Amino acid sequence: MEIIRTISWMKQISREARAKNRVIGLVPTMGALHPGHFSLIRAAQTDCSPVVVSIFVNPKQFGPSEDFQKYPRSFEADRGALENLGVDYLFAPTPEEMYPPDFRTVVAVSGLSDKLEGRSRPGHFHGVTTVVLKLLEIVQPGFAYFGRKDAQQARIIRQMSLDLNLDAQIVVRPILRESDGLALSSRNVYLQGDDRRAATALHRSLEAVRQEIAAAQRDVLRLLAVLRRVLDAEPAIALDYAEIVDAETLEPVLNLRGSCLILLAAKLGKTRLIDNALVEQEGDTFRVTI
Ligand code: PAF
Repeated sequence: MEIIRTISWMKQISREARAKNRVIGLVPTMGALHPGHFSLIRAAQTDCSPVVVSIFVNPKQFGPSEDFQKYPRSFEADRGALENLGVDYLFAPTPEEMYPPDFRTVVAVSGLSDKLEGRSRPGHFHGVTTVVLKLLEIVQPGFAYFGRKDAQQARIIRQMSLDLNLDAQIVVRPILRESDGLALSSRNVYLQGDDRRAATALHRSLEAVRQEIAAAQRDVLRLLAVLRRVLDAEPAIALDYAEIVDAETLEPVLNLRGSCLILLAAKLGKTRLIDNALVEQEGDTFRVTI
């Protein structure tokens, strides 16, 4: 595996691969890799060759009081894991390489970026879309892979790709979970002792809603009440938001219809976690994917 630190060299590699009609797969990450990332990489390896994994802890997507400095960094372990997986290129630019002092551009997907996570983390998605567009432009992949754990992020990136006629296909892959249901996340390393156990309530609350939907409940207020009951039973959890929204517009819905997302965010101590479930209408029934 070759480690690439500069944009010019990454572009050169990409140009050469595309000149040979090879389809590049890109898995953008911020490092602290876990099996969720590995499943994205395996999917990329099935569809594409070569596969590029980027590791870049993007300062622009962290607010001033967020965990940019403390965000888990484990470059050597990540590099070893990527070698073992047979990844072709690791693109790991420095912040100065990505954002020289005169960098001025902000990429913003309006309407979708200021609600839910965007309301709690102002500017977060502008940072995400700015860096993802840069990565897509630098690597020029045929396919780029994202996890559904960050469902709002995936929706926004898909919209950006549509609006800007980007060539890359945006692929969104399922959430991977621990055996007790906790969604895999680089931030899980922050969870200690009782908080780690309490964190499973996020998944349990989504499961409780799934059961209600299976029992024919369609009223969103009632579904959210079920969800909150599970979360409220864990005093360690401070709920930020729990909403059921249309999967395309991310606007709240009153009754289940079409495709919806159940999105939640909560804090356990200083650790902020998000989770979600996808609800898809199939005739008179609804399939819930957690
Ligand atoms: O999901 C992430 O890890 C990040 O938001 C991403 C897409 C790599 C952009 O920095």
